[in-house]
Amino acid sequence: MAVIRSVIRGVGAHLPRRIMTNADLAKIVDTTDEWIVERSGIRARHIADEDELTSTLGIGAGRQALVRAGIDPVDIDLVICATATPDRTFPSTAVRIQAGLGITKGAAFDVQAVCSGFVYAMTIADNFIKTGQSLRALVIGAETFSRILDWNDRSTCVLFGDGAGAVVLEAQPQHNGRDDRGILSTLLRSDGRFEDLLYVDGGAGSTKTVGHLRMNGREVFRHAVQKISGVIEETLVATGYAADEIDLFIPHQANVRILDGIAKKLGVAPEKIVKTLERHGNTSAASIPLALNHAFEEHLVKEGSLVLMEAMGGGFTWGAVLARW
Ligand code: UT7
Repeated sequence: MAVIRSVIRGVGAHLPRRIMTNADLAKIVDTTDEWIVERSGIRARHIADEDELTSTLGIGAGRQALVRAGIDPVDIDLVICATATPDRTFPSTAVRIQAGLGITKGAAFDVQAVCSGFVYAMTIADNFIKTGQSLRALVIGAETFSRILDWNDRSTCVLFGDGAGAVVLEAQPQHNGRDDRGILSTLLRSDGRFEDLLYVDGGAGSTKTVGHLRMNGREVFRHAVQKISGVIEETLVATGYAADEIDLFIPHQANVRILDGIAKKLGVAPEKIVKTLERHGNTSAASIPLALNHAFEEHLVKEGSLVLMEAMGGGFTWGAVLARW
């Protein structure tokens, strides 16, 4: 029996003009290139200038994804933007991206699940498509974390960067077999008991300020390896795939040691893991679509590739999406 699946038709990205290297950071806080590379794997990140907003980056990424998909903006009926750094408290960044791209149909809204935001947004879009409420969705992960960093806190400001990535999903009938294209499985988890390990100490409804990111890095690291391995294992069991059948792992890019730890735990070949954090740092909800865009541009992903995306972030929130390209 035929089923409707959300097939990835296009991917795009947009990064701020300005690049900040570890050497640049060492002029601001007491740190070194060696420490940052050894502890995180990051060498550089893009930082937004004043005229570059989360929506600006999202519009750039969305436009490229639409062009590559060969889909006219007027045919998009759903825009979801995953972000923890919206342009304004309201309206949503998604409606600003919608207007910027000339999309007038359907619905647009933001999703707030911090670094897991893209996995959450893909899951929501997939459910809109599978239930017939959307035919073509634009899913964006866009962040300007540089605006919520405490630039005096060396333990956090060296880790994050700005950017945006986007995918276009389209409803397509598939025959419900193992070679189906599109999103095959999604899994979302959250546990609010861990809020104090990773949060922003401000907000419109509490301090009336934006606040700064605070993180207990060591504890988050420990949970990340555990929780991400867990959702990957659950996804494999639920779909009946073995780890070595996955062609490409597109993880949230937080720390190279987390990626290597998960690969080792699950027995995944290191060359199957897409790593972009060396050049982008941790871009929160933007990191998976940015890595997906890298995989596309480097021809690492081709029609039929089985791709596993996963993330974990503030909340805690975590999850995984399995899709065939
Ligand atoms: O995307 C959301 C999820 N986020 C993550 O997954 C992040 C998870 N955590 C991590 O990636 C790592 O824990 C970090 C990269 C944040 C830190 O690495 P670590 O190996 O856990 O280091 P640490 O926090 O245990 O700090 C080690 C030392 C400390 O000094 P003492 O206490 O040992 O004397 C820090 O003060 O390194 C010091 N330190 C620094 N030194 C130079 C912390 N930040 C810096 C710095 N430069 N930028």
